[in-house]
Amino acid sequence: MTSYTDKGPKPEAGKFLSFDHCTFWVSNAKQTAAHYCARMGFEPFMYKGLETGSRQIAAHAVKQNKIIFVFVSSLEPNNPQEICDFIAKHGDAVRDVAFSVEDLDAIFKKSVERGAEVVKEPWSESDDDGVVRFAQIKTYGECTHTLIDRSKYHGKFLPNYGPARQKDVLLESLPKTNLEFIDHIVGNQPDNEMTSAAEWYEKNLMFHRFWSIDDTQLHTDYSALRSIVVTNYEETIKMPINEPAPGKRKSQIQEYVDYHGGAGVQHIALNTSNIVETITALRARGQHFLEVPDRYYTNLRERLKTSKVKIVEDLDVLQKLKILIDYDDNGYLLQLFTKNMQDRPTLFLEVIQRRNHQGFGAGNFKSLFEAIEADQAERGNLN
Ligand SMILES: [Fe+2]
Repeated sequence: MTSYTDKGPKPEAGKFLSFDHCTFWVSNAKQTAAHYCARMGFEPFMYKGLETGSRQIAAHAVKQNKIIFVFVSSLEPNNPQEICDFIAKHGDAVRDVAFSVEDLDAIFKKSVERGAEVVKEPWSESDDDGVVRFAQIKTYGECTHTLIDRSKYHGKFLPNYGPARQKDVLLESLPKTNLEFIDHIVGNQPDNEMTSAAEWYEKNLMFHRFWSIDDTQLHTDYSALRSIVVTNYEETIKMPINEPAPGKRKSQIQEYVDYHGGAGVQHIALNTSNIVETITALRARGQHFLEVPDRYYTNLRERLKTSKVKIVEDLDVLQKLKILIDYDDNGYLLQLFTKNMQDRPTLFLEVIQRRNHQGFGAGNFKSLFEAIEADQAERGNLN
């Protein structure tokens, strides 16, 4: 793997602050929101629909600390057409990754000058709590990025949303999951489209390369991938971009591309400062995770004997919860991946805790691959 230190020139104007929220286009936003609340520890947050005067779409926003997911469904047959067409092709999937920014107009102008495709020119929305400025541009596949400047807004989320309509009494009895913020969002690309997708961020958003790995470094007997991570100047937004690499069998990235119907968001990593508590709570809520073979921990204990790194957590507990560890001499990260969040083998989530380690789990990709391949074989797609 390769880490990069050259951030490139600092943008003259405009600043990316953080991930703002993720919007999913789904066939039944109400039920999807309930599922993410029950299994992943989100809470009902804000709502837009017929009762709030939104005639065409229902939007259920759920929240957990700084993480906000918005699930959107169309309310009428074939209207809005683009939502219906999107879901018919991709199934339930991430449509938009919104970034919170300063000086939106400068960022938008620069990205359009450099060739970014405009989905929606800058616009403003307001209510009693102030005004929010937006603009939307297109990235890989049918995904978009909304730029959001909320500096003149003091409402809870965005204008024209009301509070979530109903409390879910079941949630009160469930253990807290304490996921804190979006750590990174990964996009899968068809074969040979990773570099151009990564370059789109470098060129249009003035992001820079942060980390990369290729298939000579990352493969199992059957499957391989390449990945480039791009990030903003301040390195607060990390976007790994993957593509399949040839192997003896179908790459898991290719399986994603086949089932999603092109490029799209493969996984969203959610950061916690106590992964043992988080995974314990998520498992108690019935969230399912990738199986990790016990031999992973036998190998890990062996390898750790010759490493300088000290793992604070109890390895027996990590093994019991099947949490993965990736490390170097200076630190480590702990992570675990959910099973796919919907029937199609497309989007899944990651839970991650970092202890002085800014990687993405390359040391775990192999064991992750082997675990995914076991699932892929069960689905009859490892050929
Ligand atoms: Fe990840």
